[in-house]
Amino acid sequence: MAKIITIAHQKGGVGKSTLAINLALCFQDQLSVALVDIDPQGSILHIKEDFPQLSIIGENSLQNIRQLNFDLIIVDTPPYLSNRLPELFENSDFIIVPTKAGFFDVMAIRSTLGLIKEAQAKTPTLKAAIILNMVKARAGITKDVIDLLATMDTPILKTMIHDRVSIASTVITCGILNGKDQKAKDEITSLAEEIVNHIITDQ
Ligand SMILES: Nc1ncnc2c1ncn2[C@@H]1O[C@H](COP(=O)(O)OP(=O)(O)OP(=O)(O)O)[C@@H](O)[C@H]1O
Ligand SMILES: [Mg+2]
Repeated sequence: MAKIITIAHQKGGVGKSTLAINLALCFQDQLSVALVDIDPQGSILHIKEDFPQLSIIGENSLQNIRQLNFDLIIVDTPPYLSNRLPELFENSDFIIVPTKAGFFDVMAIRSTLGLIKEAQAKTPTLKAAIILNMVKARAGITKDVIDLLATMDTPILKTMIHDRVSIASTVITCGILNGKDQKAKDEITSLAEEIVNHIITDQ
């Protein structure tokens, strides 16, 4: 049965769709991958023709997602707490919560993490982790943010994705891995490896 990786954060513009597309392209080398968009505004669906190599599926019913005939399904979600998230979370194997590294961005994670905790109570095998995205090269991460993250009781992935023009150009270059920015490629590859390790181990 397909593994399901869901990318969620109720805040808009944190990089959910960008990471969803690039992870799908990255895993696609070795696995059959579908990218499912449960956002009714469908930002990923809008760019379907830019990624003919990807199986991009507008969501039908959540129960049907797991039945899709793929090894891996990556689900992109909308920027609000949709009433469909609980069911989606309970059916996921891994939830990635991208956030910018600012204090208020990290504060905004709480309700998404709360929903994840409720889903984990029902589905103990469900794992989740925070990924810091759009980290500014020089500003780095402040102690305030590190202290706040430490209270979240949700693992933080070691990989950080920096704020890079090459990543913002994902659609133009047909994916980070297709572009020329080696540091960006290394970050997305490292993210994919870390996710695989979390899914296949009991950590
Ligand atoms: N690491 C990054 N470096 C630079 N730009 C980025 C990075 N990640 C995402 N972006 C840019 O930030 C913007 C928001 O990203 P994206 O649309 O993926 O966020 P989202 O969480 O899916 O937003 P929404 O919730 O509104 O769907 C886009 O313009 C995207 O190109
Ligand atoms: Mg989006």
